[in-house]
Amino acid sequence: MKIFARMLPLLVVITMLGMQSCKTEQPTDLTKESLIPKPVSVTATGESFSLKGANILVGEALKDILGNYLAAELSTATGLNPAVITTPETEPSGTINLVVEEGDASLGTEGYELTITTEGITISANQPAGAFYGIQTLLQLIPLKADESGDYKIATGTIRDYPTWSWRGSMLDVARHFFSVEDVKRYIDLISRYKMNIMHLHLTDDQGWRIEIKSWPNLALHGGATQVGGGKGGYYTQEQYKELVAYAGARFITIIPEIDLPSHINAALASYGELNSPDTKFPKEGNYVGPLETKGIGEGKDKPTDLYAGREVGWSTLSFSKPTTMKFVSDVIRELAEITPGPYFHVGGDEAHVTKKEDYIEFINQFNGIVKANGMKMIGWEEIAQANIDSNAIAQHWASEDHAKEAAAKGAKIIMSPSKRVYLDMKYDSLSRIGYNWAAYIEVDDAYNWDPATRVPGINKDQILGVEAPLWGETLQNMTDIEYLLFPRLPGIAEIGWTPAADRSWDEYKVRLGHHGPRMKALGIDFYPSAKVPWVE
Ligand code: ACM
Repeated sequence: MKIFARMLPLLVVITMLGMQSCKTEQPTDLTKESLIPKPVSVTATGESFSLKGANILVGEALKDILGNYLAAELSTATGLNPAVITTPETEPSGTINLVVEEGDASLGTEGYELTITTEGITISANQPAGAFYGIQTLLQLIPLKADESGDYKIATGTIRDYPTWSWRGSMLDVARHFFSVEDVKRYIDLISRYKMNIMHLHLTDDQGWRIEIKSWPNLALHGGATQVGGGKGGYYTQEQYKELVAYAGARFITIIPEIDLPSHINAALASYGELNSPDTKFPKEGNYVGPLETKGIGEGKDKPTDLYAGREVGWSTLSFSKPTTMKFVSDVIRELAEITPGPYFHVGGDEAHVTKKEDYIEFINQFNGIVKANGMKMIGWEEIAQANIDSNAIAQHWASEDHAKEAAAKGAKIIMSPSKRVYLDMKYDSLSRIGYNWAAYIEVDDAYNWDPATRVPGINKDQILGVEAPLWGETLQNMTDIEYLLFPRLPGIAEIGWTPAADRSWDEYKVRLGHHGPRMKALGIDFYPSAKVPWVE
């Protein structure tokens, strides 16, 4: 008892210190906030805005896509329920005002200005996309915990911001392993938080055809029936694909559909034998005979291939000489073009190792014509440089600088996806539990430390559209696997796409990323806790 009495003052001090450290600090310096991507300019005014009781003011036309979106995000993040109002006369103080009107040309089509005062917040932009990105910045400024009064304070000042590159994206391979509509929506949602605007879906490959084509129904019914390892597979109906397009569109993300041609095509050859070529060299390993209950699969000289559940690449090919081949390609591109509002169609074109070179060139030339006839622009992996492409085509660089340079020399625009930097299916290091390492081990700093403008010497900056990080699916089984490989590398790639190279450095970025650890956890992201990053608890 006596001892306790003597210790009492000490206990009081310890308790007070504890209370002190529990107290949420009021943010007042906007320049100290850890934003990703780093904005172009931030000016602080040293006070703070109180979110409690705030309303959202937005024009009627953008009420749903901007106002209700922000209200829902604020509600999830804080439990506060801001009203969304559309009548300026009733504007109370504490308003978050979303203003979309042509004004400041220097902000471009995707830029925004975010002004925070003690009285209110204004996000202004020329286009809705810019306001959406301003909203993403605002969401990153909201403390993860309420203060003692149940309020969330935001530092005051002004952020002016716009992207360096117009193409900021990621690709998900849903062919090697199938991922549900809900998984793809979460993927879209996560990349949208870092201001990415492109979601490329690798919809077909040797192991699976993942999109319903009504005029060739076996593609999905049979060709979608398995995946790497022999699991169940799956496919999206056209209605589900439209749902994904709409979900992405509401986050200002364009869906890029990829049908990989003329190789990586076994799922189609297994569904319609008449598409097969004698040049196809079915691998001895990994072959899997799936359920052949679907109708219309022939025998004899047009015998379909088996479904394939292995991991080899480059061994299958469409037949250039068969008349059905271009009908198949035209039907697929037409049906998918009809439900894709974005202007791009990706025809693959990679690793056609068993396709004769003269056939390959003619294939790509004809795909280009079909895509154009459907009112779209053709994208292909960099190998398409070998065909007669011009400034109407887009080549995606992944492995060969020579192909990338050749495509650029022919006038094509270039998407930068160098596999040694942004192939997110590459392991972080030898201990990573999933992933490949054929291109490189890619630690978080390797993924961050490069510049699309200088990656391939000799390509003019004006021809580069931006950056895209592919996630190939051979080693991925579920959303946890996806998130482990995406995070924390993806935010850095988003910053490469957004922030001027001259304003980026790993030593400064890694500290901001460390502060994002709790934010990623709050979003339920199961990220790889790289030892390269000073994580904040
Ligand atoms: C690729 O990685 N085959 C584009």
